[in-house]
Amino acid sequence: MNICRGNPAGHEVLVDSWPNFKAVLTRPRKEVATDNSDFYANMHAAFYRDLDAYRALLSSPGAINWAQTFRIHGLQDSVYEASREIAGAKGFQVYPSTYLVYLLPSSSAIPDVSSKLDPAMRLSNLDVSHVDLLNKTWYYGGNEWSRRYIDMLIRSFPSICFLDAAGHPISWNITDPFGAMSIGYTLPEHRGCGYSSALCFILAQKIQAQGYPIYGNVALDNHPMQRLQQWLGFQRQTNLCRIILHSPVPGNLPAWVLPDF
Ligand SMILES: CC(C)(COP(=O)(O)OP(=O)(O)OC[C@H]1O[C@@H](n2cnc3c(N)ncnc32)[C@H](O)[C@@H]1OP(=O)(O)O)[C@@H](O)C(=O)NCCC(=O)NCCS
Repeated sequence: MNICRGNPAGHEVLVDSWPNFKAVLTRPRKEVATDNSDFYANMHAAFYRDLDAYRALLSSPGAINWAQTFRIHGLQDSVYEASREIAGAKGFQVYPSTYLVYLLPSSSAIPDVSSKLDPAMRLSNLDVSHVDLLNKTWYYGGNEWSRRYIDMLIRSFPSICFLDAAGHPISWNITDPFGAMSIGYTLPEHRGCGYSSALCFILAQKIQAQGYPIYGNVALDNHPMQRLQQWLGFQRQTNLCRIILHSPVPGNLPAWVLPDF
């Protein structure tokens, strides 16, 4: 949907055959993935109806730039098996991480807590002056690639935040190139007051009004966010989201990749 609506992240789609495709791979255009180590920008998504067709697509000449570190997102378990087999044969190290997927059937399901919030907090959108704060606080942030990625998200996708009386963000949420709510965060001193709930409510309405599904991925050990998603009415899906990092050996990876992955 993002590709059809102006393609702000500069992605393109490969299929095994057309029109009766059995496997789909999305990838960034060459001019987007210019830094061989930047797996934040170098994001792919995979879907298949036929695993052999997906394997063939992944290993077909030119489908993947094997000079680069990259990640593949997929909701099907065998996306990881295919990566391990095909990238492994090319001498790549593969780092999978697994997330729960939460989908909200309708934004009207969310309880509106806005009347209980501190009226001094002002609702706003994120802007590029907030990039450093998001990069510093994001679990997967803290490097120059993540900084560029957050900058791109803020410029290209719907975002929302609460600003305190001094105009500093205290809680925020943003959607990513796959339409997922991501990088949600509340400063520790403001947690438990309903800010994240209120932002989810407002962002979900925005996303729904634009015709996108409302969903997000949550780490398996992030119990506060899982409780919050459930409280807000999100439904946990049976499929897990796999994000598979592919890195040539030796790789140039941020410290958080190991040993968590
Ligand atoms: C997860 C996170 C974003 C939640 O932000 P938050 O602003 O504290 O969220 P809320 O206040 O809306 O909800 C948190 C809790 O407060 C409760 N709550 C909601 N509205 C409330 C209100 N008006 N008064 C009191 N409590 C309230 C919620 O039920 C929830 O309860 P729980 O702690 O039992 O789960 C925050 O903990 C955070 O930044 N964590 C680190 C980053 C992170 O994990 N991000 C998510 C990545 S997927």
